[in-house]
Amino acid sequence: MAGRLAVVGAGLMGSGIAQVAAQAGWQVTLRDLDDAATKRGVDGIRKSLEKFAEKGKIEAAEVEATLGRITPTTDLEAAADADIVVEAVFERIEIKHEVFRALDKICKSDAVLATNTSAIPVTQIAAVTERPESVVGTHFFSPVPMMKLCELVRGYKTSDATLATVRAFAEEIGKTVVVVNRDIAGFVTTRLIAALVVEAVKLVESGVISAEDLDTACKLGFGHAMGPLATTDLTGADVLLHAAKNIYADTADEKFFPPELLQRMVTAGDLGRKTGKGFYTY
Ligand SMILES: NC(=O)c1ccc[n+]([C@@H]2O[C@H](COP(=O)([O-])OP(=O)(O)OC[C@H]3O[C@@H](n4cnc5c(N)ncnc54)[C@H](O)[C@@H]3O)[C@@H](O)[C@H]2O)c1
Repeated sequence: MAGRLAVVGAGLMGSGIAQVAAQAGWQVTLRDLDDAATKRGVDGIRKSLEKFAEKGKIEAAEVEATLGRITPTTDLEAAADADIVVEAVFERIEIKHEVFRALDKICKSDAVLATNTSAIPVTQIAAVTERPESVVGTHFFSPVPMMKLCELVRGYKTSDATLATVRAFAEEIGKTVVVVNRDIAGFVTTRLIAALVVEAVKLVESGVISAEDLDTACKLGFGHAMGPLATTDLTGADVLLHAAKNIYADTADEKFFPPELLQRMVTAGDLGRKTGKGFYTY
């Protein structure tokens, strides 16, 4: 069924989504604001494909063939003939609104407009278009070429046909989907990790267990690939604090209230891997 995909935003997620779709035979336009940004995106895709080829996971010829299906552009009009558009710009509502207002004018009437937002309600993004039934969340995980999951998120008005289209697309490009029926704060995956991290930090904060032992318990007891505190270090303590705060603001549910330790780590700049120190030292 490979068709035409437009990806808006050639950063970490947009370039990953463009890559896996092009590998599956889709014709992809990859849009960012300037040539330097699209070049960074395409260079990243080339590097990733070359690594797969070196490891024998794809044929060497597939590198150029895949890149040949990706057209970098700075012109949003390139989305005019896309069957599906995936927006992966900065996580800021005003920027997403600007993109969706423009896409609403540019895109075919039967195009599906998807957002890769990790937390903004799909309904809020869809509201600026004249076609909220065609807007849906496709929450891919990083790094996109490696991670199998795509969390599909329905907005208040997302139609069954729209959901069916993105489900078929995500499965065709090798992802396994889960469907979130209402675009609650944090969707489902962020809610689960936020609840686990908040409880884990509370247990460490109160001296019940060390960070290392807590992660070991989750790995060996539950078969998690990584414990919640190592996950916090990888994702960024600031990112998880922000997520927990947003979910708490929306639900007033105590279990999401960020513990003092997490807040103080962020204030002190111990954000995890990106600053060299979090629950562990790097
Ligand atoms: N990084 C992650 O692990 C992750 C995981 C899941 C979802 N997300 C979500 O995916 C989206 C993108 O995140 P990212 O990590 O790829 O960000 P990023 O900062 O790597 O890339 C964003 C890109 O969007 C571009 N951009 C900004 N405004 C634009 C516009 N109007 N038109 C075209 N391009 C524009 C920027 O120049 C940048 O290249 C966000 O909504 C984020 O919340 C991120």
